[in-house]
Amino acid sequence: MSRPSVTVDTLATGHSPRGDWKPLDDLWRAAAPSLRARSNDIHTPLSFMFAELVLEAHPEADELVTRVAILLHDSGWSRVDPAKIISEGFRGDWRTSDVRYLHEQEGCNIAREILPALGYDDEFIAKVTDIIDGHDTRLEHRSVEDAIMRDADRLWRFTPTGIGLASGWFGKTPREYREQLETGTYPELITERAREIATAELTRSVELLKLDVL
Ligand SMILES: [Fe+2]
Ligand SMILES: [Fe+2]
Repeated sequence: MSRPSVTVDTLATGHSPRGDWKPLDDLWRAAAPSLRARSNDIHTPLSFMFAELVLEAHPEADELVTRVAILLHDSGWSRVDPAKIISEGFRGDWRTSDVRYLHEQEGCNIAREILPALGYDDEFIAKVTDIIDGHDTRLEHRSVEDAIMRDADRLWRFTPTGIGLASGWFGKTPREYREQLETGTYPELITERAREIATAELTRSVELLKLDVL
């Protein structure tokens, strides 16, 4: 993993997103029951924050589509058998497991169920579900909004919180998981801003979690 020597505005460097965008607390509340599975009530707010940070470098992106997509992208885990989430969703050929496809489809269903009552029209909802559908199982991204959602989905894993939760999901020590981040996750990042953020976040996590020692 190459280390660009830029200082980037991210959580690890003491920054929060600056975007002056529509508050989505009504959507957060509507989605909350669907975010309790698999610690998505931790993953999702952090990835949402990273989506906003990456959006600062991409004014050409539709910020609302991106933010709603990342907010709901993993809500479908709430409709997957909890016993299968780890055993099938994070082991072996996890990226193409049945529960991976199922959580994408159910995430699209949840988006179609809760967004209309909050004033979102069919055209907007279709843009959101086009991103949620395949966000883990489709290799390529189809738009800048799709790219930013994918990057944000990965960026939280470079934080101490992400390493703490995801190392357990994958059955790895934090140090082993760091290697997965550097050799597997980092090369998958699409935008330059996401690579800068990942580098800053992992540098801080290595320091805080003593990953060069433990
Ligand atoms: Fe997912
Ligand atoms: Fe996710």
